[in-house]
Amino acid sequence: MNLVLHILYVLILSLSESLSEPSNKKFPENFQFGVATAAYQVEGGWSDDGKGVNIWDQFTHTHPDSVINGDTGDIACDSYHRYMGDVEMLKNLGVNYYRFSLSWSRILPTGYTNQINEAGVEYYQNFISALKENGIEPFVTLYHWDLPQPLQEIGGWPNPLLEDIFAVYARTAFTLFGEKVKNWMTFNEPKQTCLAGYGLGSAAPGISASGIGEYECMHTIMKAHARAYHIYDEEFRPTQSGRISIVLDTGWYEPASDSEEDMEAAERSLQFEHGWCAHPIYHPDGNYPQVMIDRIADRSQKEGFSKSRLPEFSAEEIEYIRGTFDFLCINTYTTSMVKWTNDYEIGTPGFYADVSVSTYQDPSWNGSASSWLKVVPWGMRKLLNWIDQTYNHPEIVITENGYSDDGRLDDPNRLNYYAEYLTSLLEAILEDGVNVSGYTAWSLMDNFEWTSGYTVKFGLYQVDFDNPNRTRTIKGSGEYYKNVIASKCLVDTCEE
Ligand SMILES: *[C@@H]1O[C@H](CO)[C@@H](O)[C@H](O)[C@H]1NC(C)=O
Ligand SMILES: *[C@@H]1O[C@H](CO)[C@@H](O)[C@H](O)[C@H]1NC(C)=O
Ligand SMILES: *[C@@H]1O[C@H](CO)[C@@H](O)[C@H](O)[C@H]1NC(C)=O
Repeated sequence: MNLVLHILYVLILSLSESLSEPSNKKFPENFQFGVATAAYQVEGGWSDDGKGVNIWDQFTHTHPDSVINGDTGDIACDSYHRYMGDVEMLKNLGVNYYRFSLSWSRILPTGYTNQINEAGVEYYQNFISALKENGIEPFVTLYHWDLPQPLQEIGGWPNPLLEDIFAVYARTAFTLFGEKVKNWMTFNEPKQTCLAGYGLGSAAPGISASGIGEYECMHTIMKAHARAYHIYDEEFRPTQSGRISIVLDTGWYEPASDSEEDMEAAERSLQFEHGWCAHPIYHPDGNYPQVMIDRIADRSQKEGFSKSRLPEFSAEEIEYIRGTFDFLCINTYTTSMVKWTNDYEIGTPGFYADVSVSTYQDPSWNGSASSWLKVVPWGMRKLLNWIDQTYNHPEIVITENGYSDDGRLDDPNRLNYYAEYLTSLLEAILEDGVNVSGYTAWSLMDNFEWTSGYTVKFGLYQVDFDNPNRTRTIKGSGEYYKNVIASKCLVDTCEE
């Protein structure tokens, strides 16, 4: 596309965006709304009552330079001590479910079952019971990035031994909590765990092994996920009758033009950014996407490696991993434009060199407090359609979606984000026939935003991090979401 056409295209896009009003259609009667958090981001109590050290405790304590202001999750929202307050907030919002994660090292301080921390088990039992008593369904993530430190000492996720060790942890969790928990998620965003944790080294455990560590990490996680799925399916589903899946994250990747090259580059981005984890599980063929297998093998050979840096699954493993989901979970926040480019020169191996595309975000898109998060609601509708078509019309739950700012109570930008994204979601459901059964706002409350510390806030509730009581106050967007849940409608009155 030439420049004039491109500018025209961008103009039309921004025009259609600025004209968008929130939908006046209703969400389907059985549609479910929730909110989400993760253990390390909210619990605090990092060394209380026998909890073991995990890689985020270790990382924030030993690499304060890697987190803005040297912040830690030592206290965070103090939910370990204030969980009844969290239940009150959830009740006030009227959510159908609460998505939260278990801190592995609070239950098994060493990571193994040689020590079981009764206080940690009791904490989750009390919390889960309180949710159920208040009509809130627990959606539980087993692993949201906080690996017990002793398991990092043996190499962390790139070590294939972790498949077995995770399987034992998963069985322990199903045994302890499965009577009340009917919705399980094994891993949250393994792409982030592997890329940031073991490739780039920018997040815990801070391992820089670009081009190798991230692929070995994902290989173990894919197998560990499948093990947990089969354990649930065979040993627990017959009596507990719940469901289980994995939470994957991806933005939408929009071709910068309708040239064949740009369209190929955008599809390649989706296959690397999402297909890497999604294809082995959700695609009927299983295995990593062919474009990853081919490109990484080719670049590895040119780099002088004796075999591909992308590990290979055996035929049995492909079969074992394929189809290990009861519904499809997606975390999505934003969109990027993708332009075809010459392959990156052979040099330092790495995930982004393996993809070799040029991405950018349009300067006209509304921003947020996070540099990567631009407000592009139409991108989510396209992504949902792509998933629907690529993975055979699965049932989808959006397990995270949200907007960051500085934590103010009056937050029209966040309110607007939810109104626009939920409009796109309604269009995907009602007009495109995508099977989305639930939507989860990230997040219930402001919390520890990983390497951004407490500088970036995603909450529907504000948390006063200067007050030892960690006082919570509902924001404007929280009141809006509460109304949406009660009315299943994004505006004052919906079409009947
Ligand atoms: C969505 O998926 C669920 C679970 O498979 C199924 O029961 C339901 O009929 C599907 N709905 C649509 C609209 O496809
Ligand atoms: C950008 O943000 C403002 C303020 O929230 C809002 O009024 C406007 O509609 C947004 N524009 C788009 C394209 O989302
Ligand atoms: C914290 O809460 C307690 C109990 O409600 C109250 O007595 C105390 O004044 C509060 N502290 C602060 C600093 O707000």
